[in-house]
Amino acid sequence: MHFSSTVLALAATFTAANAAQKGYKGFNTGSTFSTGANKQQVDFAYEMKAAQELPNTDGAWTSVRLYTMIQGGTTDTPISAIPAAIETNSTLLLGLWASETSDVFQNEINALKNAITQYGTAFTDIVTGISVGSEDLYRASINGVGATPDQVVDYISQTRAAIKGTSLEGKPVGHVDTWDAFTAAANTAVISAIDFLGMDAYPYYQPSSPGGNAIGNANTTFWKAYTDTVGAAQGKPVWITETGWPIVGDTDGAAVPGADNARTYWQETICHALANDINMYYFQLQSSQGQVVNPDWGIKPAGDIVNEPARFELTC
Ligand SMILES: *[C@@H]1O[C@H](CO)[C@@H](O)[C@H](O)[C@H]1NC(C)=O
Ligand SMILES: *[C@@H]1O[C@H](CO)[C@@H](O)[C@H](O)[C@H]1NC(C)=O
Repeated sequence: MHFSSTVLALAATFTAANAAQKGYKGFNTGSTFSTGANKQQVDFAYEMKAAQELPNTDGAWTSVRLYTMIQGGTTDTPISAIPAAIETNSTLLLGLWASETSDVFQNEINALKNAITQYGTAFTDIVTGISVGSEDLYRASINGVGATPDQVVDYISQTRAAIKGTSLEGKPVGHVDTWDAFTAAANTAVISAIDFLGMDAYPYYQPSSPGGNAIGNANTTFWKAYTDTVGAAQGKPVWITETGWPIVGDTDGAAVPGADNARTYWQETICHALANDINMYYFQLQSSQGQVVNPDWGIKPAGDIVNEPARFELTC
């Protein structure tokens, strides 16, 4: 009895948590290539066009998630993904890098304010949300180089103060972290402080999940992580901000990279999220350029990502 009412309550929460979502479809993109070279406007625009031209997707992949507001190689110049998004009619899930001391984090705030001044509503109209931080709580729990919950809460309030009275006010302010950082009791103050949760979950990296990390269990593992996060979300929407299945790389326990398995993951897990209009930022569009990484998650191989074929079928 108790069990089934919990399940019903969770199902109702799941629906409430998703009702407000708009089904944004996008990819994660860093400010640098894996070689360390800084991406420029032309590089971001190229990725955005490649995403919109992905075969069999009806041009639906029009959003991009950023990790920082700062253009690589500068102190607080707005990242050139902003003019690239304006140019390509893309939307942006902004990110402020929060695993820093307060004085360094101030550069993120300054870049955010500079972007509002420089680009105005052409910029603010295309913002889907603002994430303060990325996996900071997870990293702090693993090796101490992230940020504490108190620090993240402080940076969230600094961000809210920075956008108050600007055309960004009213955009949802969230935090991105691994699903198990959100379900950890120590981090509930962060959830109380945000408008949405950005959840990262990789069944590939979960060999100890019930049923293991073989591709055949990945869909179950992913949605258990999602449902557990929804259960911790205080009724707030849970966006998917990173997930994927690697195409090339080492076997991790029973998890085998490969295009066939990535296709399976897409068809089962990604398509289920899209069918339910859950905001989705996939990891990732392109292989690392100029350097081999292991594992490699790119739907498109390195090089000409506009014209090279996708490594697996993207229909749902
Ligand atoms: C930009 O995207 C919006 C919404 O997807 C669409 O209505 C509009 O026509 C697009 N504009 C251009 C110039 O492509
Ligand atoms: C994947 O998981 C979702 C959520 O539990 C479920 O509805 C769907 O049927 C699953 N897909 C497959 C192919 O098992």
